[in-house]
Amino acid sequence: MQTVLVGIGIGLLVYYVIKRMRYRLPPGPWCIPLIGHYKVYTSAEVHRKVTQLSKEYGPVVRLSFGPVTMVFLNDVDVVLEALVKKKADFAGRPTFSSSYTFSEGGKDIALSTYSPTWNLHRKIAGKALRHYLQGDLLEDMIQDNLDKFLKKMAQETEPFSFKHYADLMVFHQLYTICFGEKRSTDDAEVKALIKLNEDLLADFGSGLLEDIVPYLKDIYPTASWKKFVNTTEQLLNVIRAKFKQHMDTFRPGVNRDFIDSMLIARQEAENEGDEAVLQKLDDTHLIQTVADIFFAGVDTTRMTMDWFVYYMTRHPEIQSQCQEEIDRVVGSDHPSMKHRNSLEFTEACLFETMRLGSVVGFGIPHMNICDSQVGGYDIPSGTTVVINHWALHHDPKYWKDPEKFDPHRYLDENGKMKPTRPESWLPFSAGRRVCLGETVAKPEILLMCANLLKRFKISLPNGVEPNLDFKLVGFGVELPSEYNIIVKERFGN
Ligand code: HEM
Repeated sequence: MQTVLVGIGIGLLVYYVIKRMRYRLPPGPWCIPLIGHYKVYTSAEVHRKVTQLSKEYGPVVRLSFGPVTMVFLNDVDVVLEALVKKKADFAGRPTFSSSYTFSEGGKDIALSTYSPTWNLHRKIAGKALRHYLQGDLLEDMIQDNLDKFLKKMAQETEPFSFKHYADLMVFHQLYTICFGEKRSTDDAEVKALIKLNEDLLADFGSGLLEDIVPYLKDIYPTASWKKFVNTTEQLLNVIRAKFKQHMDTFRPGVNRDFIDSMLIARQEAENEGDEAVLQKLDDTHLIQTVADIFFAGVDTTRMTMDWFVYYMTRHPEIQSQCQEEIDRVVGSDHPSMKHRNSLEFTEACLFETMRLGSVVGFGIPHMNICDSQVGGYDIPSGTTVVINHWALHHDPKYWKDPEKFDPHRYLDENGKMKPTRPESWLPFSAGRRVCLGETVAKPEILLMCANLLKRFKISLPNGVEPNLDFKLVGFGVELPSEYNIIVKERFGN
């Protein structure tokens, strides 16, 4: 028996070595098998560490996060080669215990792998989002929520945290888009949702051992895993309850919000008697799509707002330039969709915020669905491939003085927005998996920022220096360390 087992063991080892020798794998530093590059993946500066390693090993770096091998793409040429030139090859998603649990077995868009079902849901959700870009729909929702919160901000008599307001504004906005309801500013249900989302981020931020050792969750789950599962259930229960309410009150031909758009898509498939499509549109899939739009949208948007205000307090002269532009373009009106294309300097500040503030860090990991190559290296099918957006956005080859906040990078000599974005600017990623919300996020955030600056001069409290420390809140995702601001009405509203 012993001899047989040893024989099988040696056989497997030889098979593994021969299989690996077939490939020209990307380089990376040596590590202890199974433990992997511990110092990298436990670092609070993981995105900077990976970028540093790419200076030594080249733009394609192979690292082990525990037993999971990941390939990091750290330069725009290799990123575009993978995501655009070989787009189908790299359009998959790896399965981690947490993503599988959160997406109820890969039934959403963002975390599910490349498949006809993913494609169908992406198309339906894209159509539903485009609905909000028609007429004044998006603007009405934004303006209403904004007005309420700006009024509350104006009443603050002491220095306060803008992050708290960014959370409220953005959650209320997505609450209206997804569930069709406008809630009062101190609504308990929205506050509870913000708290649950924060708990979930904290669970992810501290890392889940079950993502590295999947079997642990079935044998001896950690306390963090149990907490994560509990928070996930509570969050999904909120969406499930809203979905049920909508099904009970749905009226054909009336589109109240994003959930109704999902129900309309299902009804269209029913009318066409398309059984194959209908099977993919069961309640769980549709609830997961709503959850995706809600959660993919809130964190990225509220964090971008937080970074924007941070940079505006650090650069008062740039803030004044935005305000001059807003006053010139908008006059006594409030900034709205029709002004969007004329707020070029303000938009350039937003683009620069998206570059410097690490809101996506490593994005959502990709997986290649077949054997492929990038940067001259082989990437075997099933490899987790991570886009290092932070490295792209700080690459000195493309950005002069990369740490400097400089909106002029996006403008020509006449102060007009350049027709194309700088090559290494990729906050929404590219290719088949490009962010589905980009067309909504850009005008939404611009309008919020422009309205904020139209009404207030924002500054740090007297005598307080900008806090230059950042804190890691996710996989390569950073926020400015806690800071307080004061606001002064510009027109004595
Ligand atoms: C500043 C705002 C935002 C940024 C920087 C951002 C960035 C990203 C990035 C980097 C990805 C991953 C792309 C990839 O896998 O290569 C992504 C995916 C996604 N985003 Fe966004 N996003 C933002 C806002 C939004 C909003 C507002 C929504 C929804 C309304 C949204 C919905 C999605 C969805 C559904 C996906 C998954 C796409 C897929 O896997 O096919 N995002 N986003």
